[in-house]
Amino acid sequence: EIEGHLTRSVVLVGMMGSGKTAVGTALSKMLDSAFLDSDHEIERAAQMTVAEIFARDGEPFFRARESEVLERLLMGPPGVISTGGGAFLSEKNRELINRLGVSVWLKADLEILWNRVRHKNTRPLLRTADPKQTLSDLLAARLPHYQKAQIVVEAEPGLSVQGMARKVVAH
Ligand code: S3P
Repeated sequence: EIEGHLTRSVVLVGMMGSGKTAVGTALSKMLDSAFLDSDHEIERAAQMTVAEIFARDGEPFFRARESEVLERLLMGPPGVISTGGGAFLSEKNRELINRLGVSVWLKADLEILWNRVRHKNTRPLLRTADPKQTLSDLLAARLPHYQKAQIVVEAEPGLSVQGMARKVVAH
């Protein structure tokens, strides 16, 4: 389904730390297509960071903006779209993504995810007393939704960003 010339957007979904932004950037270069990042688009429109939006306006407000941005990006020219980790949880977003684009779940286990997010403080959902436990709980709750992606690409220890992007193209 994913070839040299994109006819539909490739939409990367999965947990925080699964590599959506990094793999998406590499993939867009391989496919010579545009790279779009939903968190970045939300931040640009709001002139605030994701953390600031959560703090000031709350998560439901963020989710509403996220759905709007996804719809706008999916209606535009095909490209590689990276989403925030929560974007594929809503039925409405999933339906939109799977209808207008092709969803790719970047699957990774807790240890890989934790090692990638542990040194960053940019994710409001992980500002808890025990962020690794929070990440583990989120992963468990979200797996059934991510499993609804059309393509699954699994991270392996030692596999580079380029390697992950090549795995996506190979589908
Ligand atoms: C979120 C993930 C974040 C961002 C927001 C909420 C989530 O994106 O959208 O902090 O619910 O998992 P990344 O997956 O790019 O970290």
